[in-house]
Formats: sequence, structure tokens, C-alpha cells
Amino acid sequence: MNTRTLKVDKDVDNIDSYQQTVDCLRNGGLVAFPTETVYGLGALATDPGATKRIFEAKGRPSDNPLIVHIGTKEEVNEYAAEIPGSALRLMEAFWPGPLTLIFNEKPGVIAESVTVGRGTVGLRMPDHPVALKLLRLLGGPLAAPSANRSGKPSPTKASHVARDLDGRIPFILDGGATGVGVESTVIDMTVTPPAILRPGGVTAEMIESVIGPVRSEIRVEESEAPRAPGMKYMHYSPDAPVWLIEPNAKQIEQAVQDLMNEGKKVAVIGPDELKTDKPSWYFATGAYGDPHQLAANLYDALRNCDETEADVILAVEVPSEGMGLAVMNRLKKAADGKRFSNIKSDAQ
Ligand code: TXA
Ligand code: MG
Repeated sequence: MNTRTLKVDKDVDNIDSYQQTVDCLRNGGLVAFPTETVYGLGALATDPGATKRIFEAKGRPSDNPLIVHIGTKEEVNEYAAEIPGSALRLMEAFWPGPLTLIFNEKPGVIAESVTVGRGTVGLRMPDHPVALKLLRLLGGPLAAPSANRSGKPSPTKASHVARDLDGRIPFILDGGATGVGVESTVIDMTVTPPAILRPGGVTAEMIESVIGPVRSEIRVEESEAPRAPGMKYMHYSPDAPVWLIEPNAKQIEQAVQDLMNEGKKVAVIGPDELKTDKPSWYFATGAYGDPHQLAANLYDALRNCDETEADVILAVEVPSEGMGLAVMNRLKKAADGKRFSNIKSDAQ
């Protein structure tokens, strides 16, 4: 299959590109498109054949449900069995935006491969002009996970999608780099109090300021039964192993030296302030105090490491607060929990 990348510029109407991709979706095909978080790989959520193709193209485990994207708040009524008042308040405050709400589903509407028979459906209205225009023209719900091969970092540029899925999908709508850079926050509204299953662009503090206390199930991902099935899989992994390291110039320098002494080539992902010439590659992700910049640049940096000959990647930690929690959640997964303090014993 030939993959065609269609550039969509917000100042041009690009109606041909939208029409081609809408036709493709209506015929059961897949289209990658930008959202404000990461690129999604979309299929019509009511089409069982089409949604199955998403799992094939990504190599995604079939027990991991997909988020359904909608173009208006009103559409929630078509897919959710009931809408708690707290959910309405969150939709009012944060939609369109990087927040996915899990509802009990209205039976028989969304394809079973999307909800994987859990009886719930994750809905989100993305805050991106290309995604919203596509949804409006399609006039239906788009099931869309991140448009990466399973296990790889989510794509924040059309070129990342092409790298992973070229030849496997018919269309990529290229709307430039995404803004937020990490995926949406996922919150389960079917339990009391609501439970955050995945930290993301909308922080727990922002949510609690609207609906009061919520539970965080983020730690649950390390136990046997994660509530968001996706949290249990290997994620965000570049080719070389990733190790987390403290934001300490001396420690980083020492780690790089030790690894070089072992004959390893080292890439470092870290803040602008700690950039040094010591490692073979240093990917700067913005000012240290700004987790939003890090979020926007993280997946690109992880993917850039794959373009190098690095044997080891060191990623500098940030405080796990606010947006920093979402970033550290992804970094810990990329590193599979490994920290520099035990690099010597474990890296042998
Ligand atoms: O920002 C985002 O959320 C991006 C863009 C494309 O919208 N999408 C995304 O999708 O990150 P994906 O499939 O990579 O991650 C979806 C997460 C997974 O952890 C999945 O298990 C969880 O949401 N999820 C989806 N539906 C669910 C449901 N009904 N119950 C529990 N977890 C659900
Ligand atoms: Mg994903």
C-alpha cells in the first residue's frame, strides 16, 4: 500500500485533501491526523472492519481499548449510556482539549473492537483545527489511538507517523507539529470519586479545581490489574535502553564518562541548562523549570535517539508535579523503571 501524506495548512481550505480522507474513512480505511496532543490513527468507530485494521497497522494488542474522538460535545449523548453531572462540568471546562472521559457505553453503537467488550467507552473532543474539521466533514466518531507502532513513542510530527506506518496506511494528514506533546489525561467517570487512569495534558489539580477530589490510579499500573489496559504494555521505547538520571551536571558527566569507558556511545535527553559536549548527542528539551516544553519535545527527542548510534540513552528527570507527572510517567515507561543509580550493576 502506498501511503500518501497530504499537507493541510490552516490558512488554506484544502478541501480536496479532506474529501479524500473522509471518503477513505467512510470506506473503512485508516487516516492518521494531528490532534493537539499527538497524531492519531483514525477509523470510523462504528465500523468493526475498519477499527480492526487499526490494531493490525499498529501491531496493537487487541485487549487495549481505543479512544473515540468526537467533533461536538452533544455527541456524547449518542455513545454514553449516562452522563454524570461532574462529567458535564469537565466537558464544559476542558473540551475541546486533552481530556478523555470514560463513560458506560450505550450498547450496540461503537464497534466492539474499540471498547473490547468492557462496557465502557473513552470519549474526547480534540482541540485541533484539522481534527475538528475532519470530524465535522465525516459526521461520525473516530476511533483513534496514537499513530505509532505499538511500543514506540507517540508521534508528534507527520514524519514520525510515516517512519512507523509508511506502507501500512493510505493517508497521513500533515498539520505540522502537535502542541501539547503527551497524550490526553484519561479519567474514569463510571466510579466515585472519578479515577485518573493516565496523567496527561489536563492535570489532576486542574480537574480537582472543577469537580473536587479525584482518585489517582496511576500507581496501579505497576500492580496486576491496570484499569486503563494500555498502561501495562511496554511504551515509548527507542531502540537503545533508556536510563533516568537526576538533574545534576556532575552526576550526568560522571555517568557519561563511565559509559564511554565501557565503550558505549551515549545520548542524553535533558534541559537546555545542562547541555554539555561530553555525550555524543545531547537533545535539549527546553528550560528545566518548564515541563510543558519538555512534554512538547520529549517524543521527538526519543525518536531522534533512534537516528543516532547511541548504545545508551540518559534522560534527565523533572519533578513529578502538574504536567511533570505526565512527563515522568512516560519517561519511567521509556526507561522501564531503570535509574542511573543502579546503572552499573544492571547495565552489565
Ligand atoms: O491524546 C490522546 O489521548 C491520543 C490522541 C490521538 O487522542 N490518543 C491516545 O490513544 O493516546 P492510545 O490508544 O494510545 O491510548 C488510549 C489509552 C490507553 O491506555 C487505553 O487503555 C485507555 O486510553 N482507554 C481507552 N478506552 C478505555 C476504556 N473504555 N476504559 C479504560 N481505558 C481506556
Ligand atoms: Mg498510544
